[in-house]
Amino acid sequence: MTDSITIRRPDDWHLHFRDGDVMREVVPYTARQFARAIVMPNLTPPVTTTELAAAYRDRILAAVPAGVDFTPLMTCYLTDNTDADDLARGAAKGVFTAAKMYPANATTNSAAGVTNVEKLYPVLARMEAEDIVLCIHGEVTDHAIDVFDREKEFIDRHLRAIAANFPKLRVVFEHITTSDAVDFVMQAGPNVAATITPQHLHINRNAMLVGGIQPHNYCLPVAKRESHRLSLRKAATSGSPKFFLGTDSAPHLRSAKESACGCAGIFGAPYALESYITVFDEEGALDRFEGFASLHGPAFYKLPVNEATVTLERAELAVPPCLHVTGEEIVPWHGGQTLGWKFVG
Ligand code: NCD
Ligand code: ZN
Repeated sequence: MTDSITIRRPDDWHLHFRDGDVMREVVPYTARQFARAIVMPNLTPPVTTTELAAAYRDRILAAVPAGVDFTPLMTCYLTDNTDADDLARGAAKGVFTAAKMYPANATTNSAAGVTNVEKLYPVLARMEAEDIVLCIHGEVTDHAIDVFDREKEFIDRHLRAIAANFPKLRVVFEHITTSDAVDFVMQAGPNVAATITPQHLHINRNAMLVGGIQPHNYCLPVAKRESHRLSLRKAATSGSPKFFLGTDSAPHLRSAKESACGCAGIFGAPYALESYITVFDEEGALDRFEGFASLHGPAFYKLPVNEATVTLERAELAVPPCLHVTGEEIVPWHGGQTLGWKFVG
């Protein structure tokens, strides 16, 4: 039995840091385990320009603990009014690593997102020409579409057309939750990849809805039925370079989660690697963990792999039921559970 595993330091290819005091307190959790992270731009107001992204990056860097090597990779929040020249300039200057497309009102802080995907085509054409990565929150917002079908519907209505119209555009289908998304990514060209969160590998929708409503298992896209979870586990552990780690860690205070209108988002950062490696262990795929966590992402983003390493050991880890951010309670992913792996450093 493998009791210890050392891999190149991983990166988190989808992450929410927020801003202000919360950001300052959550950055160390990610910087402890990851060398880089793709930082989502859904602040209020959203990070829509090079100038805003550069300033946000500086605020994040100021929150990285002394002696810790961590690089935030910034994204541009695409809107109906995105200035493609500014985006291209920001990418050329190394401020932007990618741009993020939220359909308007699909999720937390997405009201300024695109109201019509096709209207963004001129910007996508420019991104294809400049080789800028497009990260997509792939859910339709049409109220007539059942929340459990919104990802599949997005593939059928928009994603297939984007891939066909922009055959060279690098696209990351973010936080995929369905076998339909796995199938789409598998049949697409090498320029189409996907991130997978720990929660969608661990839970299906029962974890959210059985035995009383479980707000700490609620995130968007929502967890789907078991057959989808199984297909995500197969994809993540398959060794395919099209799938890589993206926690979608999305901190919301306990009070905002345990509410009559609870926020979507799971705070996965504190024990992210322990969560993922548990899945790879259960699937008998520990030898493929490094690919998913540390190699496929950099290859897709055309960035160097990290030279430093991290070690995880088989040992009992009691995840605290609750942590504190800005003096308030926040419940981490796996809060109150015991995991079988521990991050050593
Ligand atoms: C994210 C958030 O809270 O910012 N929430 C979530 O449930 N994943 C937004 C997102 O990525 O959809
Ligand atoms: Zn997210």
